[in-house]
Amino acid sequence: MNNCVSTVFGVLGVLAALTFPAAPGHAAEAQTVLGGKLVVCGVCHGVNGLPKLEGVPIIWGLQENYLLKQLREFRHGERASDTMKKIAITLTEDEVAPAAAHFATKQWPAAPTNASFSPQSPMMAICEACHQQKLVGGVAAPRLAGQRYDYLVESMRRFAEGERKNSPEMSSLMQAIPASDREAMARYISGL
Ligand code: HEC
Ligand code: HEC
Repeated sequence: MNNCVSTVFGVLGVLAALTFPAAPGHAAEAQTVLGGKLVVCGVCHGVNGLPKLEGVPIIWGLQENYLLKQLREFRHGERASDTMKKIAITLTEDEVAPAAAHFATKQWPAAPTNASFSPQSPMMAICEACHQQKLVGGVAAPRLAGQRYDYLVESMRRFAEGERKNSPEMSSLMQAIPASDREAMARYISGL
């Protein structure tokens, strides 16, 4: 991961140097620059939408309002992530919304069949109240169905232990669920 990360930041440095304010006459150039930055996302988030690196979530097809909120919060630090902060600040204010729209309009990638099976927990009905039926997500809360297990279980732990602070409602909910139950839930959700 480290090797890959330093390559990514090398590329981003070059792209940052290319950035210029998007004056009207420069719209096409600005788009090319943004396009280049978005290619970099694929290094970690997967060129086909399926990330190969541990701890990296699927972002293709996530809800646009959710993507926008996360990118803004990575930039400003409300959601702490050293990696994503460095990446998010390479986007200008004007590029954040088109970047969110770009990934929101992609189709959620069909994950390889998940061999592991975990029975549905009765808690799922609670999750569906916000994350929608079958956890496909909506305006109120993002898609969870089919997200990577390692990312889900770690996000749930971070909410529970107060490391991810950008959703008080998710934090109080996760604090109330024992770690072993969170793992079983993450297992089930990733197989949806
Ligand atoms: C060096 C690897 C790397 C690159 C490159 C990268 N990301 Fe990420 N991204 C991550 C990791 C790791 C996380 C999980 C962060 C966490 O939960 O702490 C993440 C999380 C995210 C999330 C939150 C998803 C969710 O489900 O909450 C969004 C949105 C995102 N990245 C967008 C982008 C965009 C847009 C780009 C390109 C401009 C990009 N990322 C480039 C590693 C990367
Ligand atoms: C009251 C509404 C609500 C309920 C109920 C709820 N969630 Fe959430 N959840 C949210 C919101 C809103 C977010 C997005 C938080 C943010 O802005 O980062 C979220 C985010 C998440 C994330 C992070 C997704 C990502 O891509 O990083 C996970 C994992 C999650 N919820 C799991 C669950 C599970 C499991 C349950 C059921 C036990 C549940 N949630 C119930 C509202 C809810």
